[in-house]
Amino acid sequence: MKKVYTVAEMRKERRKLSDPVGFVPTMGYLHDGHLELVRRARVENKDVVVSIFVNPTQFGPEEDFDAYPRDMERDLFLLKEVKADVVFIPGTEEMYPPLSSTWVEVENVTERLEGAARPGHFRGVATIVAKLFNIVQPARAYFGAKDAQQLVVIKKMVSDLNMDLEIVTVPTVREYDGLALSSRNVYLDLDERESAVVLYKALDMAKKLHEMGERSADVVRRQMTELIQNEPRAIIEYISIADASTLEELENIDRPALASLAVKIGQTRLIDSMPLGT
Ligand code: PAJ
Repeated sequence: MKKVYTVAEMRKERRKLSDPVGFVPTMGYLHDGHLELVRRARVENKDVVVSIFVNPTQFGPEEDFDAYPRDMERDLFLLKEVKADVVFIPGTEEMYPPLSSTWVEVENVTERLEGAARPGHFRGVATIVAKLFNIVQPARAYFGAKDAQQLVVIKKMVSDLNMDLEIVTVPTVREYDGLALSSRNVYLDLDERESAVVLYKALDMAKKLHEMGERSADVVRRQMTELIQNEPRAIIEYISIADASTLEELENIDRPALASLAVKIGQTRLIDSMPLGT
């Protein structure tokens, strides 16, 4: 497994790789969710590139950029085990030289949900992902379903900017009790960890209501809200039942939809989502 630290080195390694190349962008502190993306990329491509870069431009000023967990040694060990071919680990100055002034701004789908709660977040995500795609030039890039809005934004960017690659969605990897794996789960203490399962419970209930024929988005949102309000450590930021491709809130669940939510458990903000009817 080759480790590269600069854009120039990455381009040089890229020329030696065999097509098709699969690419998995990450911010490190890897868990089995990330590794599942790499395993999938491994199966579907000749060579696999993984990037580890905690992208400062997608964190708000009050967010956890400095505190974001990091463990490079462990990450490299895990990536070797799942047989990544190249790991790209650029420094901040490498990705954002002092005079860089170009941004990728995806409109509309970024205005809701995570975009509304975290102004500028998706501008940072779209910009770094576009840069990484240009550097790595993959045939396929792999993203987790858990960050559902991120996937919608990336797919829109790829289509709008005529980028020549396929975006592959990998189902959310969960703990034994349903909690979605996340690098931020390390922030939870034992009690909070127990409470955190309420996100999954609410989404699972939404799925079951939908399967039983419930089509009123309001009824589903209300039931989810009630369930989460019964958990004293949980504070709801939003609960959404939206059109799966535009992310506009629905009244009637009469097309493929996405149930998603952001909930604070103590100081830790968690997100999760569940497709309905797809
Ligand atoms: P990060 O949070 O490290 O996640 C990297 C990828 O792993 C994303 O596609 C995310 O959806 C996926 N992932 C995270 N948890 C998962 C789980 N439990 N099951 C399946 N996939 C999971 O998302 C980012 O980094 C950044 O925004 C990035 C795209 C790298 C741009 O900086």
